[in-house]
Amino acid sequence: FVHQLADDEVHPDELLASPLVPSASPGLPLPANLYGAQRPNSKGADPTHRDERASFEAALASARPQPIALANVADIAPTMARLQHGQHPWTRTPLSARANTLRRAADMLEARLPEFCGLLVREAHKTLGDAIAEVREAVDFCRYYAEQAEERLAPQSLPGPTGESNELSLHGRGVFVCISPWNFPLAIFTGQVVAALVAGNCVAAKPAEQTPAVAQRMVALLHDAGVPRDTLALLHGPGETIGAGLVADERTAGVCFTGSTAVAKAINRALAAKDGPIVPLIAETGGINAMVVDSTALPEQVIDAVVQSAFRSAGQRCSALRLLCVHESVADPVIEMLRGAMAELTLGDPARLETDVGPVIDDEAFETLQRHIARLRREAMLIGETPLHSTLPRLVAPIAFELPRIADVKQEIFGPVLHVVRWRGAPEAVIAEVNALGYGLTLGLQTRIDGRAHQLADAAHIGNVYVNRNMIGAVVGVQPFGGEGLSGTGPKAGGPHYLYRFCAERTLTINT
Ligand code: SER
Repeated sequence: FVHQLADDEVHPDELLASPLVPSASPGLPLPANLYGAQRPNSKGADPTHRDERASFEAALASARPQPIALANVADIAPTMARLQHGQHPWTRTPLSARANTLRRAADMLEARLPEFCGLLVREAHKTLGDAIAEVREAVDFCRYYAEQAEERLAPQSLPGPTGESNELSLHGRGVFVCISPWNFPLAIFTGQVVAALVAGNCVAAKPAEQTPAVAQRMVALLHDAGVPRDTLALLHGPGETIGAGLVADERTAGVCFTGSTAVAKAINRALAAKDGPIVPLIAETGGINAMVVDSTALPEQVIDAVVQSAFRSAGQRCSALRLLCVHESVADPVIEMLRGAMAELTLGDPARLETDVGPVIDDEAFETLQRHIARLRREAMLIGETPLHSTLPRLVAPIAFELPRIADVKQEIFGPVLHVVRWRGAPEAVIAEVNALGYGLTLGLQTRIDGRAHQLADAAHIGNVYVNRNMIGAVVGVQPFGGEGLSGTGPKAGGPHYLYRFCAERTLTINT
């Protein structure tokens, strides 16, 4: 295959000669936010600022996971009965009042940013940068869904040829069960819960077992903001008992789940097997997310995007890059630069500003990753790894391996492990192989050939496609997030269609 250079393309030899070996800067940059980025840097938003540093330090020092009361299976039925009873007053609460409750919650959360960051760092081992971004994302979810509810859920009259008065209205379905993951214990938890609430549902929330304190404090905040107590209940405990019990309950009118594909399928089966109404499932799951780099890509941009996408948050994002597919003509220089950039990352205490990668969530995750890495050390070619100078527990050094084929990457590995494959021929064939993996969450494209990005994005069965940038950190309201196939059911979180799925619709026809 001989690649014909277009006028604006750079010959791979020039790329090889490039002296730039970018290093990941200490403290990867914060992503933009819909609301946060447009506001003047509000108090507590920048831990590098001298005046604000003290509040972050105090919050980090005082953040302690609180004792949490686990729910019993026997608690499920009375809680669901209480929520079902509570649904009627909440549904009759005017839409604008429900939306304003979310706006109050957003203001309160923004004002308590250092405190929630402290908790995210301590309980979920988030780096400070990731923690700030996560609080801002939760704030964005509250404000965005408040705005969307007012814009989209208000009743509309539908004039037409029938000579009658026709009105379409949307209302809550009943009690929604929200089951959320540990990797975004505030943002995803909050996004699910406030979407269900503002649409007029009551909510039984079951957060991940690893991160109960963040959820506990957010629910207290929502209650303080004006969500009635019998409208939102929190049940802590294992998915196998409490999660399964909530899904099985006869009062459950909808389930919103973010987590693994296997659990989403188990929930789907459990819902289908139940007697009674057909209960909808909104599932957002994982992905074997690929980035396809062609011979025209800008190498500095590629390396920056790869480092952020694969290793930020210790690779514990469903959107994270797992499979880097590099055109053979640029593979050697790209791999060389990647090795250099990985060597520059700082692994360590998540509370320190200079840390790029903190510990993984728990011992089980650590051991699973160690087993996978040990297998890759035997079966694949090591490209590079970040040096480990810290003795903190559960640190997994970012690591990259080269494999012969895309199909060799068989499962999602939830950590800072990157698989690299060289390709030749048509990029459409690479996309077809990526499609064949069955997942469809995020895809990165790095190309400077006009029209190619659109062509490949059209061919991909993938929900979020990012071109010439990283592929994580979707911004609420402007980059609606969610996948297809094994990656989830849709609708996209933080998008204009999300709230509809939490609603039932009613057409009222009056013969006037
Ligand atoms: N929404 C997150 C991201 O875009 C993943 O859940 O990275």
